[in-house]
Parts: sequence; structure tokens; C-alpha cells
Amino acid sequence: MRCLIDCDPGADDVLALLFALQRVELDVQGIVTVAGNVPLEEVTANACGVVELTGRNLPVCAGSDRPLVKGRYHASEVHGESGIGPLKLPQGLEHRVNTNFIDFYMEKLFATEEKTTIIALGPLTNVALLLRTRPEAMERIEGIVFMGGAYGTGNVTPFAEFNAYVDPEAYKIVFDSGLPVTMVGLDATHETLISPQEIANLRANTPESTFIKDLLTWYCHNVMTVYGYAGSHMHDPSAIMMLVHPEIFRTFDASLTISTQEDYTRAHILVDRSAPRKNVTVTSGLDNEAFKSIFFHTLEKYLSK
Ligand code: BDR
Ligand code: CA
Repeated sequence: MRCLIDCDPGADDVLALLFALQRVELDVQGIVTVAGNVPLEEVTANACGVVELTGRNLPVCAGSDRPLVKGRYHASEVHGESGIGPLKLPQGLEHRVNTNFIDFYMEKLFATEEKTTIIALGPLTNVALLLRTRPEAMERIEGIVFMGGAYGTGNVTPFAEFNAYVDPEAYKIVFDSGLPVTMVGLDATHETLISPQEIANLRANTPESTFIKDLLTWYCHNVMTVYGYAGSHMHDPSAIMMLVHPEIFRTFDASLTISTQEDYTRAHILVDRSAPRKNVTVTSGLDNEAFKSIFFHTLEKYLSK
């Protein structure tokens, strides 16, 4: 499946990229970054670092440095000031292209007749700007699979998930686009709990596998401290999982809209399952044992045998 990954790395985005780059089903054509977990320069540096760590030759294009309408909002308490806590990635600045991100999207989307899936792991700012400024891009987009949103409990407010909270106006544009859209929100990703013991049991004997183990260890500890969970959830890797193993998810189709009000409802997602026109496939849960088995098994490819 030909795809582009739009992301804000961010610890779990980095894990999602490392996961995606080992899946033969995914033909990743490039990475576009967006301000989210931490500012644009940091997320772009982290995306370049992942490409360098894996020895790939993949272009990284910097996207939007702020949401469409509201002010910047980050999550450095969860991801650290750099996006990956105290960890260090190799530089890899040569992977960064200087193209405007809309042009980068258009170039990749129109490079072949085959349609491209957009996998979005951060705020949907870039994707919304693409759809608004170059609507002809839609004819080459297979669908949009994004991590974000929650119709149940949020993680920024009781009603809002982080990526949705940062840019609800962008969500509205994507929901109303008419494209096939799949939401992998907290309702499903909160079922992907990985414990400190499972992380401690991981083997590591290469720079990549050592980095993965160290990142998981730090992220898990930090998430447990900030939120009081018994382990860490794998939010962004879940969107990758939805593309490679959709059968482990529970889903339903519904009509979705999002609150853009500046009050306690901001970024709350409203689900109408009975509406005749359904615009989003929503994930409502998953099989965590299957998730962990596939996820860890895939990351083992970074080990030297
Ligand atoms: C989402 O918010 C970010 O902090 C994570 O990277 C993930 O994309 C989870 O709510
Ligand atoms: Ca993210």
C-alpha cells in the first residue's frame, strides 16, 4: 500500500514510524511533519533522526508550524522538550527536503496512477490545508487513517483528545471531505497497554533495538507518572496497526462532527450512528494481546539474529 505519513514525533510517533518501516505491506513514500507534541523544528529533527537510524533514504518535509485558527499547543510534559525525552537520535538532516509541504504532497500524490493512503499521527493541520488549497489532490488519495479524537473520555479535557484539541477546525475539514476516513482514537488506543515488565523483557543488541527499548522504557515511566496508568498506551502505532491488521479492531461507521466552540466542549467528537450519510469508520476497541504480539514481533526485525 502506497502511503505518506504525516506526524509530530513525539515518542509514540517515533515508535509508529519504526513499526511502519518494518511492515512490507506499507510502501512509505515520505514523511511530513506538523507542530503538535513539540514545535515544528523538533518534530522534523526527530523524523530525520528516525530515517537516519533505520538507514533508509526517505524524504522528510516540514509542514505547518501552528494550527489553522488557534494558538500553538504542545505536550512536552508527556514527550519532553525534544519530543523524545532524554534520548538522542542521529541527525540525518540530509533527509530533509526544502519543498513547501503542499507541493511535496502534490508531487508524491501525482507521481503515479496508484492512489496513496495518508496516515496522520498528529494534528490534522497539514491534511486540512492540502484538501482546502488543492482539492484536486482528493482524486489521488485512497483514504485518510488518523490517530486522534475520542468519542468517549479525552486526555486533554474530559471530552477532548490531544490531536483533536490542537486543531479541531482541521478535523472538521477532514470529516467533511467526502474521502474514506478512519479514526483510530483513544476509544481503541486506550486498550493497548504495555507494562514496564514487558518492556524490560525486550531484547536489544543493535543501535535500533537499543533505542526502541530505551524510548519505550522512558515513555512508559513518564506516562505512568503523568497519568497514573499501569503502563503505556501505544496511540500512534495503533493507526499503523489498523492498516496492517484491521481484523484485530472493532469498528463501526457513523456520522461524525467535532465541536470547534471555545468552551468545555472544544474538540469533543459527536457520533451519530443512525445518520444515513456516514463519513467516518470509527475504531471502538481492539485485541491488546494480538496487538502486542504483532507489534513486538515486528520490532524484533531491528535485532541482529
Ligand atoms: C496522541 O497525542 C500525542 O501526544 C501522541 O503522539 C498521539 O498522537 C494521543 O492522544
Ligand atoms: Ca502523535
